Amino acid sequence: MKISYHGHSVVKIETEGKTILIDPFITGNQLTDLKVGDVKPDVIILSHGHDDHVGDTVELAKKHNSLVIANFEVATYLGWQGVKTHGMHIGGAYQFDFGRVKLTQAFHGSSFETEDKQLIDGGMPAGILFMNEGKTIYHAGDTGLFSDMKLIGERHPLDVAFLPIGDNFTMGPEDAAYAAQLLKAKIVVPMHYNTFPPIKQDPHKFIQLLEAQNGQVLQPGEYLEI
Ligand code: NI
Ligand code: MN
Repeated sequence: MKISYHGHSVVKIETEGKTILIDPFITGNQLTDLKVGDVKPDVIILSHGHDDHVGDTVELAKKHNSLVIANFEVATYLGWQGVKTHGMHIGGAYQFDFGRVKLTQAFHGSSFETEDKQLIDGGMPAGILFMNEGKTIYHAGDTGLFSDMKLIGERHPLDVAFLPIGDNFTMGPEDAAYAAQLLKAKIVVPMHYNTFPPIKQDPHKFIQLLEAQNGQVLQPGEYLEI
């Protein structure tokens, strides 16, 4: 399985011939190495309904007939825009033909902004567990630190965990380092930093804060092969 990082919270998983894209924020993402015209996801998984996560989902999904997996509210809303969706919710897992997906809790918001300044409810934000080829990847989405991360790691021994470290909207480096201790993933990769001024962080400082965990900074385009 090949897992690549593409700036902000964009993660691409390639497994058994399928391409799965998590939180494909490409247009307007100054840090990403991806181009909307070049990615061909079979599947898009969304952690929550914020622009810097939903990103180019509708355009990509329509163009490539990708399946969009998200919480029920986000899936319903995007389904109305002509996208093929599969709604799930926190605590639920589903076995797809490309792997198993489970949504986990996250402490954050989730909404869509309309042009006439309304907020459309995007349900509860989530973290994402992706399991295939005997490996488990955790993408925490946007979240603050919570003690049940320990439970996630106990129930699903993690090979790789992507954790937000940007602070302001999510955990900062210190809390994310504590989260890494709770999760006990084999490899921890920081995400959701440096995209906007309020989330400027040095990811190497986060790595230094890790105690027993193996942290790895991935530059946009870099990948892990597990
Ligand atoms: Ni968010
Ligand atoms: Mn975000």
